[in-house]
Amino acid sequence: MNEIIQKSLPYKKYVVDDRLQYFKPHATKIEKTFADEVFFSLNQNSKYIHPKFFYDKKGSALFEKICELPEYYPTRTEIEILRNLKLDLVDYLDDSFRLVELGSGSSVKTRLILDIFSQIQNDLEYFPIDISEILTESSEILQQDYPTLRITGIIDTYEGGLDFIEKYDDKKNLIIFLGSSFGNFSPDEGKVFLRQINEIMKKEDLFLIGLDLVKEKNILESAYDDSQGVTAQFNLNVLSRINDELDADFVLNNFEHVAKYNEKDQRVEMYLKSLVSQSVIISKANLSIHLKQGELIHTEHSHKYHLTQIQNLMNETGFIIKQTWTDKKENYALTLVSKK
Ligand code: AVJ
Repeated sequence: MNEIIQKSLPYKKYVVDDRLQYFKPHATKIEKTFADEVFFSLNQNSKYIHPKFFYDKKGSALFEKICELPEYYPTRTEIEILRNLKLDLVDYLDDSFRLVELGSGSSVKTRLILDIFSQIQNDLEYFPIDISEILTESSEILQQDYPTLRITGIIDTYEGGLDFIEKYDDKKNLIIFLGSSFGNFSPDEGKVFLRQINEIMKKEDLFLIGLDLVKEKNILESAYDDSQGVTAQFNLNVLSRINDELDADFVLNNFEHVAKYNEKDQRVEMYLKSLVSQSVIISKANLSIHLKQGELIHTEHSHKYHLTQIQNLMNETGFIIKQTWTDKKENYALTLVSKK
């Protein structure tokens, strides 16, 4: 990347060695966004906390634990599909693609794709984009296992990362967005996001997206309210993050994890329920809030899709579907698209 472009990006560059570097927005920017967003979203009648804030170090580690839970089928199903699509995907690639991943995710999935890349190219290049610094740890391990792999990590939001990719260079990208993370978007936000991806893509670029499919209510609800209480811990952790980073005084025992499947809107909804009438001070957001007994703070929507809805969604946002893969039970789908 040339120096001028590099300077125009509001990032600080950290070079670890000749095969590993990171770009990160200036620290004050991240901190301000968190405080501002929390001020806005908790200073309302219907309170919410954006799910992207789940992923501090502890939250990311808890999410990894969720992925191993017997009730949480999406991760293991997606991995199974990825193992099976190997031969198919090779057909769409050549030796000049780089792998770009939205949400650096579990390294198991990244490795499966990198292994497919290794079949056809020698110098692998990987650009993980993740809001969490956990990205630095997973990158170092990956780098050890793939001796020719060059990694450029972007520690930022998806939007920031996509912008970065577009300005970076002209190399072909396979962009992957796995884990049904797309399910966090509302239908409208989702379309905006897909159009954004479409816009930064070059004609030859490819995009692979993993989406969770509609299924029985009780399977969905136990996936988001597991018997070991890991998902509850994950949900509650966002309050301890606010305590730590924004100097707040949430008492975690005064809240309860709630997960419900909304059939009409095809989404699992997660909340933190206030068990008592209570006040909370969030010093660094300059905010003091009151919560009634039983009041809900919304923390996540996890949308589920029908295969036909995925096709329509891709069509509407400027993509051509190359291929769709599912597991036998059609619990989960991976869809490969290119720009129309
Ligand atoms: C990472 C957003 C895909 O919605 O299934 C898992 C997050 N929340 N259990 C999901 C999550 C509770 C997960 N995504």
